[in-house]
Amino acid sequence: MTLSSLQIKPLTPAQLNAVVELDRHCLGGMWSLDGYQRELESPNSELLVITPERGAIAPRPLLGLGCFWAILEEAHITLLMIHPDYQGQGLGQWLLGVLLAQAVARGLERATLEVREGNRSAIALYQKFGFQAIGRRPGYYGATGEDALIFWLNGLHQPGFTLELSAWHYQHQHRLAQQGWQVDSPLPIHSLKIPSGENQPRIHPQI
Ligand SMILES: CC(C)(COP(=O)(O)OP(=O)(O)OC[C@H]1O[C@@H](n2cnc3c(N)ncnc32)[C@H](O)[C@@H]1OP(=O)(O)O)[C@@H](O)C(=O)NCCC(=O)NCCS
Repeated sequence: MTLSSLQIKPLTPAQLNAVVELDRHCLGGMWSLDGYQRELESPNSELLVITPERGAIAPRPLLGLGCFWAILEEAHITLLMIHPDYQGQGLGQWLLGVLLAQAVARGLERATLEVREGNRSAIALYQKFGFQAIGRRPGYYGATGEDALIFWLNGLHQPGFTLELSAWHYQHQHRLAQQGWQVDSPLPIHSLKIPSGENQPRIHPQI
């Protein structure tokens, strides 16, 4: 099988139109071009996109996008989306893992997000990474009147979390390869290496 190479990179101004298009497909047009432009200009925003490697033949310029705001020691995850044609292949997990690694690299200690109560796939994804629901905002989503669940993940700054994330990322590359994706970009955490052999850390069961 020929593998298609993907990478996760910060969003660039040249990709703004493509990201608005992706948002339209995934979220029905939640943020405007101006909204993404503002995010690009904010030093507190981390905006990462999944793109084909330079030169690769690809049907789409962007396959996914994730964003968090760094507020004090917290990463507020504001967006996570994978194009509908590519959902269910492990790309959402890959993107969330890299977003969390980026939060670790920024020295952040906790991550939080809000998710629609009925969004089963997103909730399952967050729970895999150890996020726990600690509250709800009743009627938060005006169009449907659905509640938002508030999720938190603590301990991003603990060495154990970094080790688990690194080990998980390494293993997840194999799963993505089985789906036809080559993603050999390392996590943006350089201080810790993946142990080998008997010293390998126990993977967090949820990850
Ligand atoms: C949520 C979203 C980002 C997940 O991306 P994805 O690439 O499909 O996710 P993955 O393939 O990595 O799957 C992650 C986990 O989610 C769960 N999941 C995925 N699809 C699912 C489905 N249809 N039903 C239930 N759980 C599902 C599984 O637990 C899966 O892990 P597993 O395959 O190891 O069992 C994607 O569905 C999406 O873009 N949705 C629209 C935008 C959105 O709702 N974003 C979240 C806002 S908070």
